[in-house]
Amino acid sequence: MNTITPQQLLKAEQFIRPFFERDHSGHDWHHIDRVRRTALFICEKECCNQKTAVELIALLHDVGDPKLHVTPKDGKNALNKVYSHIGLTIDVRKEMNEAIEAVSFKGGNETLLPSQESAIVRDADRLDAIGAIGIARTFAFGGSNGLPLYDPFIQPRQDMTEEEYRLNQSTTIHHFYEKLLKLKDLMVTQTGKELAMERHHFMKIFLNQFFKEWKGLA
Ligand code: ADP
Ligand code: NI
Repeated sequence: MNTITPQQLLKAEQFIRPFFERDHSGHDWHHIDRVRRTALFICEKECCNQKTAVELIALLHDVGDPKLHVTPKDGKNALNKVYSHIGLTIDVRKEMNEAIEAVSFKGGNETLLPSQESAIVRDADRLDAIGAIGIARTFAFGGSNGLPLYDPFIQPRQDMTEEEYRLNQSTTIHHFYEKLLKLKDLMVTQTGKELAMERHHFMKIFLNQFFKEWKGLA
């Protein structure tokens, strides 16, 4: 994927940005931009020479997400439109599709990573789901999907798959146990692991304080 040019990156950015400007569920443009910056940071630290590929995967990683479209096919079409707009060859499209597929979280069934570039973007995407930003996004998602903050009578289930907890949404706090606290151990790159440690620690402090305050002062 070494053939991706700076012009193609710019065209892709300009093409997709309006689509994400309208989102308030945690996939806004700033999420894409943060994932891109974190991915490029990891790329540099890990001495990966596929900088433009990393950037394009980061820019496009959520374009076809079924959650943002009426049907999964609409998602695929949206991605194909970007590919055509920036003039990607068939071979690069195939590699991009594989990389993007590998970026998404699949509960316990981790997709095999086809390349270092996809590992880097997956780590960057997951880093944006934890720490202070992760907490903020999670409550934004919970609010926009009508989830309660917390319910002490619902037990978190660690073994739920992504699909199960989407259908069986519990509370925003439960999402920390169902997904967010697991992400630290799913980092692949050394830099991702290091960055995840601080963010993970911050979430634990947040949760401790949350439960302390939940009990009230009586
Ligand atoms: P991405 O595809 O960017 O990794 P997701 O689509 O999985 O992220 O989720 C977007 C944001 O919404 C994330 O911050 C995630 O933690 C949050 N989120 C997803 N599912 C839930 C849920 N069931 N409850 C609360 N927050 C959620
Ligand atoms: Ni994302």
